[in-house]
Amino acid sequence: MPAFNYLPEAERRELVRHVKWLTASVKDGQRANKFEEAVKSGAQKPPIAVPPEPGVTVEALVRGKELYTKLQCANCHGETGVGDGPAAAEQKDSLGLPLPPRDFTIGAFRGGSTGRDLYLRVANGMASTPMLAFTDEVLPPTDRWAVVQYVQSLRRSDAQVNDLLRPTDTTLRAQRVRKLPVAPTDPAWEKLDSVRVPLNPLWPEPYPIPAVAVTAVHDGQKLSVLMQWRDDIANGAPVRVEDFQDAIALQWSLKGTTPFLGMGDTENPVNLWMWKAGWQQAIAGARPDVDTVNPALHVDTYFATSYRTAEATGNLQAVLRPPTAVEDANARGFGSFAPQPAAGQNVHGQGVWRGGFWSVVVTRDLRSRDKDDVQFAAGKSVPVAFAVWNGEQRDRNGRKVVSNWHHLVLDR
Ligand code: HEC
Repeated sequence: MPAFNYLPEAERRELVRHVKWLTASVKDGQRANKFEEAVKSGAQKPPIAVPPEPGVTVEALVRGKELYTKLQCANCHGETGVGDGPAAAEQKDSLGLPLPPRDFTIGAFRGGSTGRDLYLRVANGMASTPMLAFTDEVLPPTDRWAVVQYVQSLRRSDAQVNDLLRPTDTTLRAQRVRKLPVAPTDPAWEKLDSVRVPLNPLWPEPYPIPAVAVTAVHDGQKLSVLMQWRDDIANGAPVRVEDFQDAIALQWSLKGTTPFLGMGDTENPVNLWMWKAGWQQAIAGARPDVDTVNPALHVDTYFATSYRTAEATGNLQAVLRPPTAVEDANARGFGSFAPQPAAGQNVHGQGVWRGGFWSVVVTRDLRSRDKDDVQFAAGKSVPVAFAVWNGEQRDRNGRKVVSNWHHLVLDR
């Protein structure tokens, strides 16, 4: 579920109204809307009042810890908050499907991570889950704040690193510079502002990559976009069947619209730039092979390509396309991904992995003669979305973390 923060508030409220309208049942041949019925019968409770958040004190954290044990939060969420309490394994939702208690150490919550968000969660509980409401009778407001602050304190400090850059809105600015940095290691990047783009997993993952930091620049001729994300293990070219590689893709809307996030649609095509760690290795001449992965393996005759079956059959996903580590492709809807012909491959890219972070730069001329390519111009805004694949989590194809649409605006 990606964030839809590119929609104006009025449209978001409209959507909420529609979702509420959908929660209806049929009663005596009539559509009965649960929200409307509650309002009519006076059963709708007033919104919960959230008192101002008190400052975090040692006393509050000690009190929070006490309540965390006393109210049996630890029974489900675990003593250290990783979601491994004695009752964790047996938690189920209302459909009987396993529902693991939240891991507080990652700091990622369904309903937001601010004090107010968590205060409301603890007060209201989560309908159709074992997460019950802790009402004023069990947990008066001051104590509730103490529990919330204690829950927040369980977050690992390395998880916090991902949050250092706060998104302001969904605008990414491409700053105008004299000399365009194209290498991820260029110190010029450090003087530029980055924007944190939140990412959401399309499939449940134990440790999804929460965000990518994006820095964009142009020099009037070319555009360079630096993308940096935390990934503890670098996964390069897949060799064994159980291997998957790290990758990142940018999705540009060709018509300036914000169509279906999953590859646009027939009326609203998209241009895709995809960088893969394996292609990067191939360029560096460091692509691992069967004999590097299994150095002790004895083979009588060794035909490299017959072990790399996808490559041997010419599978476009596996065929190497040097000299750039980025593929320029198009799509007009889900399942229609098609790489551009060799002559149309005009995006350059470079990635390095250092100290637990990938830094990948993609570069292209602002203008392209190719009609399937996105066009950039100073002062112009172009919708863009991001996707990151983590080889360690066996991400591939639709299994990945994605952002929703953002707008890249090029400085004049
Ligand atoms: C009976 C087990 C159980 C107990 C006891 C319990 N929780 Fe939970 N809690 C859950 C489960 C399961 C979820 C995940 C629900 C989901 O993912 O839909 C959850 C989710 C949460 C969340 C995540 C909210 C979000 O937006 O993602 C918070 C915060 C939370 N619990 C706090 C607490 C606190 C504080 C206590 C004690 C006062 C507590 N829980 C007691 C089972 C429990």
